[in-house]
Amino acid sequence: MPRVFKAIDIENEEKEVKRDYLDRHMPHVICPDQVKRGEKFQVKVILGEEYPHPDEYDHSISLIQLWNRETLLAEARYTPGVYGNLPSHVEVDFYIVAPDVSMNLSAMSVCSKHGLWQSEDKPVKVI
Ligand SMILES: [Fe+2]
Repeated sequence: MPRVFKAIDIENEEKEVKRDYLDRHMPHVICPDQVKRGEKFQVKVILGEEYPHPDEYDHSISLIQLWNRETLLAEARYTPGVYGNLPSHVEVDFYIVAPDVSMNLSAMSVCSKHGLWQSEDKPVKVI
């Protein structure tokens, strides 16, 4: 089982070098707090708040997944160089339809060099 890095690791880290490392890999889920049942809405996943991640042939973000609790909803795969070999905040927009019950969304990202990273949970109320 791989180690999964979580957002709490950043909050507890005070050293700038380590904060840089944690921040650039961490996915964030951005979407409304409340959506209407049966309506399509946008869920953006973006990595890093302050620090961009490298996009090199041997070190890049290769996968972003969107989860609702234990269910995988969608995923996007990336080839090294797709961001022009420049450091970037990798991001993707997913569009999903609100189900009958409220959701607890989260995102996972995979760095080809630094493993698996998990966002904070994003509760979404369905009305
Ligand atoms: Fe990395």
